[in-house]
Amino acid sequence: MKVLVVGSGGREHALCWAIAQSPKCEQLFCAPGNAGIAAVAECVDVASDDVAGVVSFAKKNKIDFVVIGPEAPLVAGLADKLEKAGITAFGPSAAAARIEGSKAFMKDLCAKYDIPTAKFESFDECDGAKEYIRAQGAPIVIKADGLAAGKGVILCRNLNEAFAGIDHILSERSFGEAGDSVVVEEFLTGEEVSFFALVDGKTALPLVSAQDHKAAYDGDEGPNTGGMGAYTPAPVMTPEIQEQVMRTIIQPTVDGMVAEGMPYKGVLFAGLMIEGGVPKLLEYNVRFGDPECQPMMMRLQSNALEMLLACAEERLSDLDLQWRDETAMVVVMAAKGYPGAYDKGSEIRGLDEAGADDAVTVFHAGTQADGDKVVAVGGRVLGVTAIGKDVAEAQKTAYAAVDKIDWPEGFCRRDIGWRALKRS
Ligand code: AMP
Ligand code: GLY
Repeated sequence: MKVLVVGSGGREHALCWAIAQSPKCEQLFCAPGNAGIAAVAECVDVASDDVAGVVSFAKKNKIDFVVIGPEAPLVAGLADKLEKAGITAFGPSAAAARIEGSKAFMKDLCAKYDIPTAKFESFDECDGAKEYIRAQGAPIVIKADGLAAGKGVILCRNLNEAFAGIDHILSERSFGEAGDSVVVEEFLTGEEVSFFALVDGKTALPLVSAQDHKAAYDGDEGPNTGGMGAYTPAPVMTPEIQEQVMRTIIQPTVDGMVAEGMPYKGVLFAGLMIEGGVPKLLEYNVRFGDPECQPMMMRLQSNALEMLLACAEERLSDLDLQWRDETAMVVVMAAKGYPGAYDKGSEIRGLDEAGADDAVTVFHAGTQADGDKVVAVGGRVLGVTAIGKDVAEAQKTAYAAVDKIDWPEGFCRRDIGWRALKRS
């Protein structure tokens, strides 16, 4: 079959790499892709958020199956438009993608279907929000309702920070329309973990857990990023907690979405906080995590294309997935300056040497081919991913590969995996 993957990050490289291994995949395209993806797929010059462009490419090229990586095209209705054109798509409808696209929608769903989450209220004007904050006290969390490129969450240590946050979002309109309203919620403590499940409308199939590292620098210092490294599985997610997550969070969400008339299809990525063995939902994403997807695809033993297709074709109840019983870890290499301003165009050397170990795959994110050179063109640039018998071995192998990459203009964290190592 002819498959099109939409996106250009490390997540999409991992998806293309896994899909390309399926004998069923006759031709693989990626819109727009990157220099690493070009080794396994034909990159096409269509932006991932160009909904009309993707649909028209898929129609013209008789694509059988489209796998949508990022949230923006999902929230904009790409899956709906493809289905309307008779093309099978992996990813939720625009209506169901609101579970990520609107924090208020997600929190209301939790309230209605009794899904454990931080206590909250939604507001669209400052006075009411501030009055509620004064009554609740600090610390407290303020979230812009809409998609704000991961920057719409403000963790407030005191009331002044909280009031300033409300002004920032509702009066100064710093996030534009994404800040038409805010969710003010209880500050949860505990250990954070990501959990992924496939959902085909009715059936939810657990995938795996992972832990990301959002801060830019070692010791979780510095500004928040899209994610600087991740590993799977996360030891905090015991079989008992996973069972609770499926029973109290994922399945009620799936059933709730059916009851609301917008069945969820695609991957459901739950950001969870675990305290005292009890999981609570922080947020949902409607896509695979980036960089969590990279180590997930390395651990997946089953055929990735069959898995994604079974989800899109509502056949998950027949699917039995196999995962390597090992730990996989990705270390993200980013351009110096990221997540702030950074330079583009520097050459990256040593990629083949780094990827020579069978236990390592170097996934590309912001890269571009320049003749036979690979140059950096983004913030997050590479995801050096390794598999090993445990976190320590995966970490050692990943950093050995990182050290073979010659890219003075880049940096990475040196402590990916510290939480899991502390437990072992
Ligand atoms: P979100 O985009 O909702 O995942 O929030 C970004 C980050 O803020 C999360 O990964 C958490 O680290 C933190 N966070 C979000 N909500 C809360 C909360 N209610 N309590 C504590 N931390 C939170
Ligand atoms: N790595 C976090 C995310 O994809 O949202």
